[in-house]
Amino acid sequence: MIEQVESDIKDLVNQVGYSEITRLFDSLSGGKRLRAKLVLKIAASSKESIRLAAIIELIHAASLLHDDVIDEASLRRGVPSVNATEGSKTAVMLGDVLYSKAFSELVHFNRDIASCIARSVTALSVGEMMDVNMAQQFNSDADAYMNMLYLKTATLIEASTAAAALLAQKDATAYGIYGKNLGLSFQIIDDILDIVSDEATLGKPAMNDFVEGKCTLPYIYLYEALDSSGKVRLQSCHARELSCEESTWIRSKMEEHRCIEKAYALARQLSDAAIQSVAGDTELVAIIETMMKRSY
Ligand code: FPP
Ligand code: MG
Repeated sequence: MIEQVESDIKDLVNQVGYSEITRLFDSLSGGKRLRAKLVLKIAASSKESIRLAAIIELIHAASLLHDDVIDEASLRRGVPSVNATEGSKTAVMLGDVLYSKAFSELVHFNRDIASCIARSVTALSVGEMMDVNMAQQFNSDADAYMNMLYLKTATLIEASTAAAALLAQKDATAYGIYGKNLGLSFQIIDDILDIVSDEATLGKPAMNDFVEGKCTLPYIYLYEALDSSGKVRLQSCHARELSCEESTWIRSKMEEHRCIEKAYALARQLSDAAIQSVAGDTELVAIIETMMKRSY
């Protein structure tokens, strides 16, 4: 049960033995706990699966703390980020504690499970660096973007489902494929929502990705479709605050060239591949369908 994961996470944080850490951790919003839910669905509830789920959520929380420092984000899940309220130094240190505590617990798992998770954390760190580097200039390379997305977001979800399968002695390859495609599809939907939703729904400013320099798939598709003067105009909007007129122009051009639909079609294709790899597991199929329907 997910409540048991929440309480295990709290226990692990308390074990660190510094009340300041507990206070800071309690101020975080827990989020959807997607990775933990996947672990429990695949491996069923046991002391080990609950611990594995808690470890993965701690790693995820640490990565978001560091990501908000790197992105200089002031909001996380609709509430002020730790770097905004307590400063970047505190956010980095809290991330370090959560991340190292997770690894201290991971070593108690068998070698295959431990290395599956550990390798994914290296990959997600590389992915974060690629993301930051790619945001320095306008990127119009969809393959490079998808590779970065895989490393930054999908890899920990892939490792969560594969590790859970290893724990339950199920087919780790098939469940890994499910996790990878779910992760990619999830991130593409996230990228779409950044463009089509408003600030109140997102818990952060709309069209923030492009302002941060991130050329997500709809922007790449738009660039491909625009004529040369349109391309110049889009590039001139990159990585800076947008005026109302500019964001309206981008949105209307995306509509004209069906960029959101194209990105959504790729997400659907990836979701279908995920479903196919665990055919028959109705709960995992339901997770995909709920994710695809997120405010779109
Ligand atoms: C969010 O991306 C960021 C990630 C999913 C991964 C961040 C990874 C690291 C900082 C490296 C790993 C570090 C540790 C301590 C394990 P985003 O900025 O596109 O999404 P957002 O809108 O949710 O911020
Ligand atoms: Mg970020």
